[in-house]
Amino acid sequence: MERSFCSLVLLVQLLMLLPALIVASTPPKKSETYIIHMDHSSKPDHFSDHESWHQHTVNSLSKACQEDKEPFLYSYTHVMNGFSAKLTPCQLTELQKSPAHVATYKESFGKLFTTHTPEFLGLKRNFGIWPTASYGKDVIIGVIDTGIWPESESFSDKGMSNVPSRWKGKCENGTAFSPSVCSKKLIGARSFSKGLQAAGINISTEYDFDSPRDFEGHGTHTSSTAAGNYVFGVSHFGYAKGTARGIAPSAHLAMYKVLWASDSYASAATDILAGMDQAISDGVDIMSLSLGLGQTPYYQDVIAIASLSAIEKGIVVVCAAGNEGPGSGTTYNGAPWIMTVGAGSIDRSYLATLELGNGLTYLGTSYFPASVSITNTPLYFGRDDPTKSRCLALNRSEVTEKVVVCDNNNLVDVYGQMDVVKRAGAYGAVFLTDSSDMDPEDYSFPGILLPTRYRNEVMEYASNNTSIVKSMRFVFTETGTGPAPEVASFSSRGPDPISPFILKPDVLAPGVDVLAAVRPDVPFMEAGNYDLTTNYALYSGTSMAAPHVAGVAALVKAVHRDWSPAAIRSAIMTTATTLDNEHGTIRDQWKGLTATPLGFGAGHINPNGAMDPGLIYDLDTQDYIQFLCGLGYNETEMSAVIRRSQWSCDVIGTDLNYPSFIANFNQTSSPSEKHFTRTVTNVGAPTSTYRASVEVPSGMIVSVEPSTIKFTSKYQKQKFVVSVQVDKNAPKVNYGYLKWIDDHNHTVSSPIVVTSN
Ligand SMILES: *[C@@H]1O[C@H](CO)[C@@H](O)[C@H](O)[C@H]1NC(C)=O
Ligand SMILES: *[C@@H]1O[C@H](CO)[C@@H](O)[C@H](O)[C@H]1NC(C)=O
Ligand SMILES: *[C@@H]1O[C@H](CO)[C@@H](O)[C@H](O)[C@H]1NC(C)=O
Ligand SMILES: *[C@@H]1O[C@H](CO)[C@@H](O)[C@H](O)[C@H]1NC(C)=O
Ligand SMILES: *[C@@H]1O[C@H](CO)[C@@H](O)[C@H](O)[C@H]1NC(C)=O
Ligand SMILES: *[C@@H]1O[C@H](CO)[C@@H](O)[C@H](O)[C@H]1NC(C)=O
Ligand SMILES: *[C@@H]1O[C@H](CO)[C@@H](O)[C@H](O)[C@H]1NC(C)=O
Ligand SMILES: *[C@@H]1O[C@H](CO)[C@@H](O)[C@H](O)[C@H]1NC(C)=O
Repeated sequence: MERSFCSLVLLVQLLMLLPALIVASTPPKKSETYIIHMDHSSKPDHFSDHESWHQHTVNSLSKACQEDKEPFLYSYTHVMNGFSAKLTPCQLTELQKSPAHVATYKESFGKLFTTHTPEFLGLKRNFGIWPTASYGKDVIIGVIDTGIWPESESFSDKGMSNVPSRWKGKCENGTAFSPSVCSKKLIGARSFSKGLQAAGINISTEYDFDSPRDFEGHGTHTSSTAAGNYVFGVSHFGYAKGTARGIAPSAHLAMYKVLWASDSYASAATDILAGMDQAISDGVDIMSLSLGLGQTPYYQDVIAIASLSAIEKGIVVVCAAGNEGPGSGTTYNGAPWIMTVGAGSIDRSYLATLELGNGLTYLGTSYFPASVSITNTPLYFGRDDPTKSRCLALNRSEVTEKVVVCDNNNLVDVYGQMDVVKRAGAYGAVFLTDSSDMDPEDYSFPGILLPTRYRNEVMEYASNNTSIVKSMRFVFTETGTGPAPEVASFSSRGPDPISPFILKPDVLAPGVDVLAAVRPDVPFMEAGNYDLTTNYALYSGTSMAAPHVAGVAALVKAVHRDWSPAAIRSAIMTTATTLDNEHGTIRDQWKGLTATPLGFGAGHINPNGAMDPGLIYDLDTQDYIQFLCGLGYNETEMSAVIRRSQWSCDVIGTDLNYPSFIANFNQTSSPSEKHFTRTVTNVGAPTSTYRASVEVPSGMIVSVEPSTIKFTSKYQKQKFVVSVQVDKNAPKVNYGYLKWIDDHNHTVSSPIVVTSN
């Protein structure tokens, strides 16, 4: 099933130096695009700025083996000091000999894999974080995505405050996009495609707009989820009807288009880096990325490198965790300075009703986009022929103008069955299945999915020659259904493959059937003989979850302007909830199992709680530097990530002051006890006392020292140590919680996860 998250496989090679003899005797090879990371302190004084130094560096490379007339692509100043250019192997070799050279990243490309949520998150007009944060007023969210459809009502600037004076961004002119479409809501819009074009990919009207205008609709969806204005009476063809608005409806938006439609969706690492560089320079407060590069060490991951640079400037970076679940170790964007977001379902179901001639009625699932009714229609079931009963092949003259019952029994794919029934000329169909691998746009035919617990009853009635459908009705939306949230099957799971010492994802946010704005002028789906367009549509993916958290971060930022990105993340994590709306632990859509923090992180976001967390676990750049030293990075690797030539690591370890805990116990290695040291900062009442409450299952022993911490002033810090032991017979993944509880109604909750192998 298609999911909106793009995974780019970044194949970075630290290129080996070729022996000079071979280079000299080989004819110049085709040039390729590289990102070249330079040491900023090596810039000779006679260059007024870094860009002219970068340009000069490329221009002064040997012309003998140059291929491209204009090899230079971008100069980067914020995400790293460096540039991208098309270079031949011998030019690259020459460049890498320069003392100013820090690292080389080979260009890589990726493809897209693939409104009611404010209420579900407890956001209310007259209570909690919305009014307190003035709905995100004066906060700027930068979205790195496929562009934006500026005319969408979600980007109206009705009621918006003025553009903050510190803003340095702008709206560019381009194909079907004029700067005049920008407003007090959409305050910046840029596009970056040099990297893609250098690779020979055409940006033409046929494929995409050569401007920030959104061709695909993905960036319009994520932007309106984060900070869309109020739009009344929107729906997905009648489903999920209501008021659309982003999580931070008063925040400003800036779009950095780096994902392009070619034959499919592609994005070049050079362009992503250019977009992030521009966002930092323009002055965004929050950056939201619903895309990812590879699962590579941080010194090879340009998103991780660029994000660290953003964090140092106080910008919160929120990224999608990826859609590669339910397998473990599938998270992307798991660097400890990034806020990594998994996708959960919401408490909304899309329903259709079926009444049979025998009076029995059923409630099933459907997204068929028309409120049609089918009444008094013969029912067909190919009872004696498995190919017919499973709707693998149907006889047109037998099923025409009937409603067909298809026994799926979770063996056949519903999409294929629907296609057969539709082509055979039936009026409608009933699919007996528990699987839900269908996207809303796949319901191009009046079909209803019924759970297999009704299978025998329905098939028995349908086997009768005279059976009929009394009525079948579509377009019902029910809210408050449960259990919700559940961890979406596709949402990527920890442990993080790059740093298993940090629990990832950090949190869960709505990412299943999220209603938000899309491109309105192209067909969204086809039904019968009609191509249907819509202004708002349901999308699923961790791509949809990340902008929810970007919106919450904007609200927290609006309330606490001086908080660091780590403090904002801590507030969102320690107030997250691990219970669903039926008061049980959050479950997994995958097989309906109980989920673990490897799926939901610290829990599902709870924006009102995040405003007043009581305590925060803060982190600064030096903490991350020490963490990287703890990973055993050598000098070259360190300077690639932290973009400095000098640093010091007085404490070396991978135990960051993180608001969650994860330990791996290896049966064959001791010790069997792990210690975590943490420091919390009081951001609640000046005088307060917190008591540690440990909730762990059998097989885990956790102690906290001291178990009571007292504060006498705001911003005071206190240290404590958590010791974790695990029983040899404990399950492979075991987890509990440490909760610091005070007498002012704060519960500061952290998951403690233990894995053993
Ligand atoms: C804006 O872009 C369009 C389309 O590329 C072009 O036709 C137009 O001349 C540009 N206007 C300005 C002022 O650059
Ligand atoms: C790009 O467009 C040019 C001119 O229209 C064409 O010759 C070339 O084949 C196209 N390249 C790709 C990769 O489609
Ligand atoms: C389809 O059904 C009709 C009527 O029952 C029958 O005459 C015909 O032979 C069937 N066709 C096939 C290919 O089975
Ligand atoms: C089949 O239909 C006939 C006539 O309507 C009815 O008498 C009979 O009980 C039905 N059988 C089943 C299994 O529903
Ligand atoms: C149903 O149809 C089959 C074959 O067409 C026939 O043999 C049978 O008698 C019918 N049953 C009823 C209850 O009408
Ligand atoms: C650091 O490790 C890289 C491989 O990741 C290697 O190419 C480089 O030479 C090493 N640098 C130092 C200073 O050891
Ligand atoms: C357990 O630890 C030992 C020693 O550190 C190591 O050699 C071994 O590969 C580890 N086993 C697993 C399954 O991680
Ligand atoms: C304490 O918190 C709970 C849940 O967050 C809330 O329902 C309750 O009203 C709060 N009580 C006070 C006294 O603030």
